[in-house]
Amino acid sequence: MMKRNQQKTPLLDALKQFAKRDPISFHVPGHKNGELFPPLAREYYQSILPLDMTELSGLDDLHAPHDVIKDAQDLAADYFGAEQTYFLVGGSTAGNMAMILAACTAEEKIIVQRNSHKSIFNSLELGGARPVFVAPEFDRKVNRYTAPDFNTFKEAIEQHPDAKAAVLTYPDYFGQTFNIKEMIDLAHEYNIPVLVDEAHGVHFSTNDNFPASSLDLGADVVVQSAHKMAPAMTMGSLLHMNSSRVNSNRVTHYLQMLQSSSPSYPIMASLDIARYFLASLSQDDVKAVMNSVSRIIAILDEKDAWQVLPTDDPLKITLQMQQGISAHEVYSLFEKEAIYPELATHDQILLIHGLTPFQYDKQLQNGIMRVKEQLKNVQNHATIETGNLFTKQIQELVMPYQTMHHRPARQVPLNQSAGCIAAEAITPYPPGIPFILKGERITDTHISIIKQLIHQGATIQHDDVTQRVSVFI
Ligand SMILES: Cc1ncc(COP(=O)(O)O)c(C=O)c1O
Repeated sequence: MMKRNQQKTPLLDALKQFAKRDPISFHVPGHKNGELFPPLAREYYQSILPLDMTELSGLDDLHAPHDVIKDAQDLAADYFGAEQTYFLVGGSTAGNMAMILAACTAEEKIIVQRNSHKSIFNSLELGGARPVFVAPEFDRKVNRYTAPDFNTFKEAIEQHPDAKAAVLTYPDYFGQTFNIKEMIDLAHEYNIPVLVDEAHGVHFSTNDNFPASSLDLGADVVVQSAHKMAPAMTMGSLLHMNSSRVNSNRVTHYLQMLQSSSPSYPIMASLDIARYFLASLSQDDVKAVMNSVSRIIAILDEKDAWQVLPTDDPLKITLQMQQGISAHEVYSLFEKEAIYPELATHDQILLIHGLTPFQYDKQLQNGIMRVKEQLKNVQNHATIETGNLFTKQIQELVMPYQTMHHRPARQVPLNQSAGCIAAEAITPYPPGIPFILKGERITDTHISIIKQLIHQGATIQHDDVTQRVSVFI
């Protein structure tokens, strides 16, 4: 139950007040309140630069908050129902890293959902943890890997009751949720804290139209990218603490290590604004958004080429391509019409509806019509079978991080890499979930799927994966 006045925006107000004083700047940043800014960009930046301040009197300090940043964070904690909320200026990436490093030190076990974002794996490597991966299930209803099965999670906990934490992703990129509460409750029976990457769920606290936030379901630490689904600036994110199973001093320690010592005030103030926005949304506002989602789905529904998949988060609209149609090619056709979806996998396109009614129905309708026309010229592709990717439900790395640090690596062509241990992750982006992990053995299935993905136009974060894959010697 919220106790504070959610109409307040203390950090934004302090910045606005400060700018009104026409302050003389003898301090960083070098743009001097926006006076010194090349004309070619001034038009776009001029209104925000006076708010791009540094830790001056009255503006507080993110790394030792006691004034307006503390007030803004406390308001967020009150709204989201957390014991403590930290503003993040390095995205959920920074939050995921801080929560994992805080919970688990070198060589300690940690249970991790295998289809996590790369920031999770990077933190495991940084901390030298000993991850126990739980594979997700392939959900035929949505034709994707989603969450691990409860029994797999249970087995992992029973086999590794000494794990220092369990890391889950809820919802997934496509807005799919699962019964995370039963996993949280089980982990707590073993006194294992549950750390949740809720990067895509900042809006779950607003209304019953959305699934419950894992924060309300008992998770110990929850990280949300406010910038993904709420009106916050890119990189603006939140870390919520809700238990003493993870030491908050350690979280603070890692956040100040991982994040800039000059955090951006416009990003921090946008978190104040995003929380205010979410708290101000009325039932009618959300109803209007839901109506808009239905309208957009009606425009998008194009049974011959794709179908709209069911989802738990109504703001995520996923188009499942009919067999043989490459989502990457259709995505390019959308882009030609200046319609920019969030991402494409080999067979799905994800569009994200905002928390405001859509206003470009006619433009969208015309664009979709032209895409349909163009579809006649799109070449048919063989279906990529990804349902057999995770052969083991519970798995550890073939080589521990400690060994990897000292082990030399060499580059081999992808075709010759089967059986080798990957010395780098191979990550299609988006969604940023590593397909092959650093320290994982490369299989023929991996190679075949990567080749097919590239053939169909997927972007892999790598300079040339087919020619050079780094493997341990
Ligand atoms: C599931 C998930 N977690 C974490 C992140 C990282 O979030 P950020 O971009 O805020 O650093 C992403 C980014 O796409 C993501 O999809």
